Amino acid sequence: MKLVLKSILFSFVLIFSSGKMMSQSTTIILKDNWRFSKEVKEDAFSVDFNTSKWEKVSVPHDWAIYGPFDKEWDKQVSAIEQNGEKIPTEKTGRTGSLPHIGTGWYRNTFSIPEFKKGKKALLIFEGAMSEPQVYLNGKKIGEWGYGYSYFYIDITNDLKAGSENLLAVKLTNLPFSSRWYPGAGLYRNVSVVIKEEENFVQWGTFITTPEMKGDNAVVDIKSEVHGSDMSMITEIKDAANNVVATQKGGETKNQTIHQTIEVAKPHLWSPETPYLYTATTKLYAADGTLKDEQNIKFGIRFIKYEANKGFSLSGKVTKFKGVCLHHDLGPLGAAVNKAALRRQLTILKDMGCNAIRSSHNMPSFEQLELADEMGFMFLAESFDEWAKPKVQNGYHRFFQEYAEKDVVNLVRATRNHPCIVMWSSGNEVPDQWGAEGVKRARWLQDIFHREDPTRPVTVGMDQVKATMESGFGALLDIPGLNYRVHLYEEAYKTFPQGLILGSETASTVSSRGIYKFPVVQTKNKEYDDFQSSSYDLEACSWSNVPDEDFVLQDDKPWVIGEFVWTGFDYLGEPTPYDEKWPSRSSYFGISDLAGLPKDRFYLYRSRWNTKEKTLHILPHWNWKGREGEITPVFVYTNYDSAELFVNGKSMGIQKKNNSTPQNRYRLMWNDVKYEPGTVKVVAFDSNGKIAAENEIKTAGDPYRIVLEADRKTIKADGDDISFVTVSVVDKNGIPCPTAVNELEFKVTGAGTYRAACNGDATSLEIFHDNKMKLFSGKLVVLVKSTKQSGSIQLEVKGDNLEKAKISIKSLK
Ligand code: GAL
Repeated sequence: MKLVLKSILFSFVLIFSSGKMMSQSTTIILKDNWRFSKEVKEDAFSVDFNTSKWEKVSVPHDWAIYGPFDKEWDKQVSAIEQNGEKIPTEKTGRTGSLPHIGTGWYRNTFSIPEFKKGKKALLIFEGAMSEPQVYLNGKKIGEWGYGYSYFYIDITNDLKAGSENLLAVKLTNLPFSSRWYPGAGLYRNVSVVIKEEENFVQWGTFITTPEMKGDNAVVDIKSEVHGSDMSMITEIKDAANNVVATQKGGETKNQTIHQTIEVAKPHLWSPETPYLYTATTKLYAADGTLKDEQNIKFGIRFIKYEANKGFSLSGKVTKFKGVCLHHDLGPLGAAVNKAALRRQLTILKDMGCNAIRSSHNMPSFEQLELADEMGFMFLAESFDEWAKPKVQNGYHRFFQEYAEKDVVNLVRATRNHPCIVMWSSGNEVPDQWGAEGVKRARWLQDIFHREDPTRPVTVGMDQVKATMESGFGALLDIPGLNYRVHLYEEAYKTFPQGLILGSETASTVSSRGIYKFPVVQTKNKEYDDFQSSSYDLEACSWSNVPDEDFVLQDDKPWVIGEFVWTGFDYLGEPTPYDEKWPSRSSYFGISDLAGLPKDRFYLYRSRWNTKEKTLHILPHWNWKGREGEITPVFVYTNYDSAELFVNGKSMGIQKKNNSTPQNRYRLMWNDVKYEPGTVKVVAFDSNGKIAAENEIKTAGDPYRIVLEADRKTIKADGDDISFVTVSVVDKNGIPCPTAVNELEFKVTGAGTYRAACNGDATSLEIFHDNKMKLFSGKLVVLVKSTKQSGSIQLEVKGDNLEKAKISIKSLK
């Protein structure tokens, strides 16, 4: 059973996770009723402190995302060594230029009727950015270091039964503590769990599926418990909630109850069939009273990593078609939101992506739940630094004291998710250099193994030569290479594992809808408008364009997949413009910060989505002033050949071939001269028959606004969001790809305006203002539900444009 603390009046809404009311264990999410302030008040933890002037907020909350953008925030003057820089320069947008530095206080007053003498209480943080200091009823009860960690505090002796409690949390973000926008505040759930004294240890149950016995899957359950002479009954339910297996008793050793249960003819979990079972475990005292109950979702799947053969999922060799994701959700900042995460995964699913790497830290529980449900494999990462620094105030300050605790909590809290198929103990840690680093790599890997013997551990390595020499790479379960396509062969031969993971690949840069001429493949290219070209030929000195990874993925069976940097643009790290203001977010995304696909999306889709056809033309065809000039046309498609026509005139047939990586994966007409009109592509199947067509047209002036919601029915829970893509078309309905009109948004009815984002990495417009300029003809408006059901209207208008309205239903 879950309780959600709803309002200042402490009215409760009950959510039953199991459908049955049980009193043994209760979770109360502290969502509303928070007060927040950035004032530095050292006594803000005291019970008498007056917070009437503090802002009312709900959690998850990110105090910094509301801006304004300012280049002075966390301006880092540094040489980024891992990028090969020697001389320090001013990096303005490195952490997003948002006001995340400083101290913030949160306070919440709550009472918990379920808590009585003899019960246990835990206070759980799923992430607090950062360095949380926690006070209950005026007394300090705990603290943590890393802002990405999950942790809990036993508050049994400090929680008051039958009266109000005051929780105060102080958070501090130091300057120079991150390489990207970390967010700020209580950006993930905070909850209180009430249990009987005899109970299941928090995060102490581990469900694995070691083998098949004939037609039956063996399900192995180990539950750590508090209490003596306890016994456990487990029911395994299928996705339709039918009980398919039951087990009573089990062997108890060292306070751990061990059961093995067989599930006949199991539905196997995979990205294509993300089938989930639920294990309902009940804990009984010797006298037969029920003490605790858990409902744990799990999947039945078998993972294997084999030399030269690669990774197989339940017997099927599978390559990771993965993306790296930072945790921020663009205009929502770091505040976790399930609708935003689900939208990201929906977009990635359409691209054919099957795996996520949570770079470079612990994923949210919400993201893992969705990956289980929607079918994504997961590489759960932990750290971007160990004991040696990348940034002055980075994780190295905590490594000694916290690294083991952080890994233990990561593994224990998430190991029942079938989506997780690998752990990562670090990303490009400077400890790749030196003997101490080798020891640390082994120490961390051993901790992962101790907590979870079923999954391998990798490190994303960029110092590949050094790790070949030191033994660092050889000791890892899975050697992960970040970029370094030229070293794959050598690494494969040198490392003993017989396989290589592209733990981070590509880092191609592009801005949605922006194209630069002449079209040439280059590195570190900068333009006056601080944008990068969407011909997808620009990368960084250390990185490469997508096609170079494709060659390795396709030709080498021992390359087990790739995680592209990145699935979506993120706040901060505006390479190649990290010294150029006002660049403040990345250019690496396959989709932009608003979640709108760039051209690159279709390049990956043409390879990864094997079920649907892709036939995508670039660039757009609005090039007033370029008449007669060479304007190459690329087509991203899974078809092998196609003919291109400009205003009905054939530009010839192109066929994919192995002469260069680009010619292998793209169809390119490099000599097309621009003339306004229609560009049409006709694709052929393997028999040379016409299989599909697509066309784009030159647009006239913007005339009308068009709205398209990703979901027209949302949940009236105060969290759900409909993402409405806003674009403009000309009089004939042709999309205007270069429009930059400023638009205004109004939301009425049972919802609120939450934010907008246009994907322009140089925009200083504030996400939550109700106006914004289009970027390359598009932007996205986020409409949020309230707790009232009803109809929500979004109206969008702009000067000299026909306005548009859309209705969204919000249901209980
Ligand atoms: C990698 C690093 C990422 C990001 C990326 C940009 O070296 O692991 O966090 O900085 O480069 O290309």
